[in-house]
Amino acid sequence: MRLILLGPPGAGKGTQATFICQKFGIPQISTGDMLRAAVKAGTPLGLQAKAVMDSGGLVNDDIIIGLVKERIAQPDCAKGFLFDGFPRTIAQADALKAAGIKIDYVLEIDVPFDAIIERMSGRRTHPASGRTYHIKFNPPKVPGKDDITGEDLVQRDDDKEETVRKRLQVYSEQTRPLVDYYRRWAEQDPANAPKYRVINGMGSVEEITARILQALQS
Ligand code: AP5
Ligand code: ZN
Repeated sequence: MRLILLGPPGAGKGTQATFICQKFGIPQISTGDMLRAAVKAGTPLGLQAKAVMDSGGLVNDDIIIGLVKERIAQPDCAKGFLFDGFPRTIAQADALKAAGIKIDYVLEIDVPFDAIIERMSGRRTHPASGRTYHIKFNPPKVPGKDDITGEDLVQRDDDKEETVRKRLQVYSEQTRPLVDYYRRWAEQDPANAPKYRVINGMGSVEEITARILQALQS
């Protein structure tokens, strides 16, 4: 199973990815998590990416495409994978298509922008695993600690309100066009295009997981 989760920042892509990947036994490929790991490790890529991410912009397409191609060549991707936060531009989607990587489903998680600011301001993450919580909507068992390792949770540097607004603007301009891109492709060439499904992203985490699992059967 090869899946793409599409949706604005804070839509719940990372949250849902954890459940879907567990269910299907496939790795979650989050370009955001990969970039944050590079920032933390202080690699040349990390140093370059940090400023872009903190400003709410997008990292260069060629760098991202290179990272993703390298990642999906790993043995654990042989039985499938889930892309979370990739592709994010038409150029990235075209590169995926040109590489002949067939995707089964594109799932668009639909959440109105006004719900997003609240989701992001309460978000806490476990940096080592990418596990995500929300202080109100999806709290950890012990406040401030990861459920599995007990390690500290942190707030992401790009979750400041002004950066969130910029990320939403960048989403509208550069990523939202992928909705039409995949919809049109599915209409024009259903044999090769991924199936396109819109998931209502409002509701509890469990309700949304159930909607996704149902969509994957249609
Ligand atoms: P990335 O890490 O991909 O960030 P994003 O797309 O902005 O998405 P988020 O991780 O913010 O949100 P999410 O949808 O995963 O939501 P989550 O599940 O955490 O990218 C970061 C940066 O890296 C980019 O800005 C860019 O600079 C760079 N980058 C990454 N990929 C790139 C690419 N392909 N090309 C170029 N640059 C790239 O949920 C959010 C919060 O809501 C959490 O607190 C969660 O607990 C809560 N929540 C989840 N579900 C619910 C629910 N149902 N109800 C209430 N709260 C909920
Ligand atoms: Zn995420």
